[in-house]
Amino acid sequence: MSDLRAMLAFAAPQGGKLTLGAALLLVESAAALAVPWIGGLLTNAILGAGAAGPGMSFALAAMLGAFALQALVRFASSFLLDSAADRIVAGLKVRLYEHLQALPLAFYHRRRLGDALALLTIDVHVLGAFVSGTAVSIAPMLATAGGAVLFMFGIRPDLAILVAVFVPLFFLLAKIAGRRLRPLSIRLQNEEAGAVAMAEENLGMLPVIKTFTRERQESARYRAQIERILDLSARQRRVYSALGPLVQFIAAAGVVLVLALASGDLAAGKLSPAQLVSFLLYAQLLARPVGSLADLYGQTQGVRGSLSRLQQAMDEPPEPQGGGGVPLHRARGEIEFRGVRFAYEGRGPALDGLDLRIAAGETLGIIGPNGAGKSTIGHLLARLYAPAAGRILIDGIDISTVPLESLRRQIGVVPQHVLLFHASVRENIAYGRPEADPAAIEAAARAARAHDFIVGLPQGYDTVIGDRGVRLSGGQQQRLALARALFKDPPILILDEATAMFDPQGEAEFLRACRDTRGRRTVLLITHRPASLAAADRVVRIEAGRVCP
Ligand SMILES: Nc1ncnc2c1ncn2[C@@H]1O[C@H](COP(=O)(O)OP(=O)(O)OP(=O)(O)O)[C@@H](O)[C@H]1O
Ligand SMILES: [Mg+2]
Repeated sequence: MSDLRAMLAFAAPQGGKLTLGAALLLVESAAALAVPWIGGLLTNAILGAGAAGPGMSFALAAMLGAFALQALVRFASSFLLDSAADRIVAGLKVRLYEHLQALPLAFYHRRRLGDALALLTIDVHVLGAFVSGTAVSIAPMLATAGGAVLFMFGIRPDLAILVAVFVPLFFLLAKIAGRRLRPLSIRLQNEEAGAVAMAEENLGMLPVIKTFTRERQESARYRAQIERILDLSARQRRVYSALGPLVQFIAAAGVVLVLALASGDLAAGKLSPAQLVSFLLYAQLLARPVGSLADLYGQTQGVRGSLSRLQQAMDEPPEPQGGGGVPLHRARGEIEFRGVRFAYEGRGPALDGLDLRIAAGETLGIIGPNGAGKSTIGHLLARLYAPAAGRILIDGIDISTVPLESLRRQIGVVPQHVLLFHASVRENIAYGRPEADPAAIEAAARAARAHDFIVGLPQGYDTVIGDRGVRLSGGQQQRLALARALFKDPPILILDEATAMFDPQGEAEFLRACRDTRGRRTVLLITHRPASLAAADRVVRIEAGRVCP
């Protein structure tokens, strides 16, 4: 039931359209219910039995009118419902994207990126189609079925009761089929999400796949995944396609039975031909919604998988935006780690009681073996993760108390693994400030020793650098990332192996420039390179998550 409420919340903004669409479907039900009655009139007119009744042409016109109304209303309702579905899907996508973006990095370290993509591509559509399709058709379907039974009851109560007895039988069938369909459709959707995730990962890993010549194996792995989907949908289809004809046959058998029982009455004159025609048409009308009942049951079960996955993602708590504390304005840049302990999920300590003080304007070299916790220091300072114990202070203020945005404005990071956008050089450097002054962009590029190679690119600063910057060399990517961080001009700069791919000359130039601007900002210079350390005021060595004495 909470599932349903969550779903209604997603659909709420389209409530008006959905209600109107459902109301129109109810009108369509009414028109459909009029047809058998008009059929009775028509029978009378044909047999000339109802001399007192309306004539043939009236009955024909009424019949045509009922069909026209049905068509018109169906057009309007499907237009409304489809546009509501589009908007529900669009709204869900944006809300989900914003939520996914707000989740902490740890969320993505726990699972494949593709799983999140599958939510946006598959599950959102399943849910949207269900809300505007299956869900709104329930009431009109029940109205048609209920109305048909009622009218039949008016004509021949005993026969109507007999027909109504069939309905629970259909319910039972639908339930049995639904029980088989539910696990199938949940698995089917999981496997579809798995296929999206697999393709996403593999296409991103293409250079590795190609150089290790694993194309055949990866194709086989993907094919196996697609075949699992094929197999599950075949099994699902077997249930569906058996169910439809079965229900139809039972309904038809019911009509034949009614016909058999009524034929005696007709001879005895207890039932007029017009009544019989109406009755049969109502029975036919009843069979239709009852037939789709099983379908509806199956779909309701299927959508639950998508819904629970979406719900699970939406229930993940977003990154805490940080205390009601005062926002940090431009910091002086004094940093202190006090007894900081931290472990990544399911791992041993990455920082194990780290005590470290960095004066404002100091350039601190940080060295230490792989896995010592150097990058982790930067992650915690930018509050990408929260320490398990201890405190981190900037200018004497505990960073956990300040609004996250104001904290991150103070910090520029050149990460160990450079991440660039599929955009122009200019847009990458001025990231977040599209209106930036071209002169400032160029100054940042010069400071990062990137200007010379940039002007050599085909379109200079307007050259688009490809996905993650693939159209640049490793060192060029790194220089661009450095320019981006310098352009932000933060009081605290974390350079995590930021010159590791620089050629010696470029590195020497950059370090000389660093020395010139020394004191203007606090720099955490994480490096394995002795040359870089020359630019530092002081060097600390981190081992096993602590400062080595
Ligand atoms: N996202 C993560 N999830 C789990 N464990 C992690 C994660 N990132 C790092 N670790 C672990 O935390 C420890 C510290 O990692 P960190 O990246 O801080 O090392 P480092 O000193 O920067 O090493 P390097 O010199 O190789 O860059 C390592 O043992 C590493 O395996
Ligand atoms: Mg590192």
